[in-house]
Amino acid sequence: VSIHRGDYRPPEWRVPDIALDFRLDLAETSVTAALAVERDIETPSPLVLHGDGLTPEAVRVDGEVWNDWRMDGSDLIVDLGDRTAATVEVDTRIDPSANTQLMGLYASNNMLCTQCEAEGFRRITFHPDRPDVLSRYKVRMEADKTRFPILLSNGNCIDKGAGEGGKHWALWEDPWPKPSYLFALVAGDLVVNRDEFVTMSGRKVELGIWVRAGDESRTGHAMQALKNSMAWDERVYGREYDLDLFNIVAVSDFNMGAMENKGLNIFNTRYILADPDTATDADYDGVEGVVAHEYFHNWSGNRITCRDWFQLSLKEGFTVYRDQSFSADMGSPAVKRIEDVRLLRAAQFPEDAGPLAHPIRPDSYQEISNFYTATVYNKGAEIIRMMATMAGPERFRKGTDLYFDRHDGEAATCEDFVRAIEDGAGLDLKQFRLWYSQAGTPRVTARVEHDAASGAAQLHLTQNVPPTPGQPVKVPMPIPLRIKAFDRSATATQAGEQLVVLHDAETVVPLGQFAASPQLSLNRGFSAPVIIDFERGADELGWLAAHDDDPFARYEALQQLMLDTLVAAVSGKPGHRQAVIDAVAETLRGREADPAFVAEAVLLPSEAFIGDQMLTVDPDAIRRERLALQDAIGAALESEWRSILAEGAPPASILSRKAKGGRRLRGVALAYLAATDRADVPSLAFTIFSEADGMTERQAALATLAHGDSDERAHALDIFYQRYRDNPLVLDKWFQVQAWSMRPDTVDAVRALAQHPDFTLTNPNRVRALYGALTGNQAAFHQADGAGYRTIADLVIALDPKNPQTAARMIPPLGRWKRFDEARAAMMKAELDRILAQPGLSRDVTEQASKSLLG
Ligand code: ARG
Ligand code: ZN
Repeated sequence: VSIHRGDYRPPEWRVPDIALDFRLDLAETSVTAALAVERDIETPSPLVLHGDGLTPEAVRVDGEVWNDWRMDGSDLIVDLGDRTAATVEVDTRIDPSANTQLMGLYASNNMLCTQCEAEGFRRITFHPDRPDVLSRYKVRMEADKTRFPILLSNGNCIDKGAGEGGKHWALWEDPWPKPSYLFALVAGDLVVNRDEFVTMSGRKVELGIWVRAGDESRTGHAMQALKNSMAWDERVYGREYDLDLFNIVAVSDFNMGAMENKGLNIFNTRYILADPDTATDADYDGVEGVVAHEYFHNWSGNRITCRDWFQLSLKEGFTVYRDQSFSADMGSPAVKRIEDVRLLRAAQFPEDAGPLAHPIRPDSYQEISNFYTATVYNKGAEIIRMMATMAGPERFRKGTDLYFDRHDGEAATCEDFVRAIEDGAGLDLKQFRLWYSQAGTPRVTARVEHDAASGAAQLHLTQNVPPTPGQPVKVPMPIPLRIKAFDRSATATQAGEQLVVLHDAETVVPLGQFAASPQLSLNRGFSAPVIIDFERGADELGWLAAHDDDPFARYEALQQLMLDTLVAAVSGKPGHRQAVIDAVAETLRGREADPAFVAEAVLLPSEAFIGDQMLTVDPDAIRRERLALQDAIGAALESEWRSILAEGAPPASILSRKAKGGRRLRGVALAYLAATDRADVPSLAFTIFSEADGMTERQAALATLAHGDSDERAHALDIFYQRYRDNPLVLDKWFQVQAWSMRPDTVDAVRALAQHPDFTLTNPNRVRALYGALTGNQAAFHQADGAGYRTIADLVIALDPKNPQTAARMIPPLGRWKRFDEARAAMMKAELDRILAQPGLSRDVTEQASKSLLG
């Protein structure tokens, strides 16, 4: 059954106040919910409360036992006659230890925690459970004092005490009205890293990061990121924190990255815990970015929430844009932009081009959990970024100020946001709203025309938004392109950059006078999330890779040159191998100044991205040709790579931009050298592995070894396993590097690793480490005999009864069948069919598999 955006109706009953009473235990928890309800429509209407897996044990209205209720499926319908207000109390009983879905109240490592977004609250108690019903919460928690010494919920702890039989209790109150998806509680044996932050108006906020004993020494980076985020949101958006307490709890079993519950963020441990011995530089950046993301939700999400789940991008797109901007400010803006675009191209472009394509504001869904996608999050962020680009920083800030001011305390829509930016920033966004409703990645074709006689140059641009499921015909959208034309012969300073906004199917931009046809830098900084088709020779791309003054555009030019060469090679054509080698050599000259940028720029495009350029993806040829080019670059610049490695690594404890960049470049150098198959590579990698003083170097060396079949490989994997077998986050890396391997037996290895005693389906991180890495390994997943497809389908079938949300997230790779040859496509569809034939399939998996099959 699909739910449609157009069917939205305001709630009939409001719930201004809620009192929750929890008697907590791992296996048996009883909950009493007292909902103060108020009717918001004239005519009497029963109160409909959603439940999921719940049976009411008792219902009371205004303190009296009430019998006028019935169940309608899993909903509780309470008949309140012609009352306009009442207090409705319901008793329920739940078993957190049996909750393997990790939605609602569940147990993880003997502690109790919650995840309510999007519709988990109804697994705790009966409730309207929709984001436009906002309530003030009072929460009483009682539990065994020895096993659950720490009791946390949203807001402030206003009272606590000892109970009977070794129990204790705490009373929490959150003064800010919030939707049920932001409710949270945690009970367990936890230790805290405490700190404080003084807000811009001088209020002192107590900060706490709660983890299991022994992990507290690994919370320093998260704490610093939190304080930096709080200061940044004040400085950049004028947003101040609004409670006296801000708590974060890290849990090992978590479906997603983290959750922004009011005053009590709950995190996947992988986005909190970091120290140099166990976390890579990329892990450190992940912690910083996710801590910021969840903190920023306090305004973009909590103070202003979503009216309904179709508006999810209102909070997620904007918050991703905010966390991206924050990370850019904390580190290198150019490198951050490259990483963000790489992720968009790896995760969102394929989504937009496949059977699951949807606009950032979807029109319908069967299961909302399936719409926490790269489209809603990352394309959503690009759409906010385009508005910011068109407005400029000052006017964009006026727009967001107006948005926060106008809608504070409300459940708002994407339309509300756009109107606030229009009014505050003074933009006309009438046509721009199409970005919210049209799916598919626009393609822009570019061509430069130069009239030798007059010297006049023009840029011709056409745009086309491709058809997507349910949207066969599209109309042109506003596409803001930052462009700059370079005169290669000029010695004087070049004319500046301009912002061109395409509105029509065709646009002609006058570029001015040039002696020779200018070199065009287009979509600088990736100002619009589009695909540019622009035929340029190796000479032109090489020149831009060396001379463009926008670092992102330099990166793009080199990537395009590599891509052209690889695509040519795959179809048996020569390409520009020497030009690529020259451009890499030229780029490496800048490595002293900015090693992080250089490391990103000289990296070859991923196998998947090469595949995205082809009509029919040939995974084996792509792997072969990419390795061949890597080998050629590795051999031609061998002395460079060797000297980068000989210089030694910056100490792992130093996390400066430069040190991180240096380590990243060493990883790239090792990979290039490894592609040459020089005899000393395994021992070189093993030395780096053994001497590494931190995880970045250690993991890079291990990943390189994992591709081969040297004795050093087996030895290093064994050492790594023995050393980290008790650290789940690091053990994930051990599974992951093996599933990433380019060895021909990787699918078999994954199947064997699934039988390893340390593998478990109950931990989403472990599932992603093994199977997520396999789907990211294009040649392995698409192995010609279909074993990769079978492995993923087997996983989905085994996991769905336990954790449908995580199972459903493994399906999209099987849905890309249209892009592969007939034999592979048939096997992929057969696996989707096999999944759909399982009895008792979840709504999550049913939606993803059936839509993927349709194509
Ligand atoms: N709002 C969270 C975030 O953006 C994501 C939570 C989604 N959880 C879920 N079960 N779908 O960080
Ligand atoms: Zn979010």
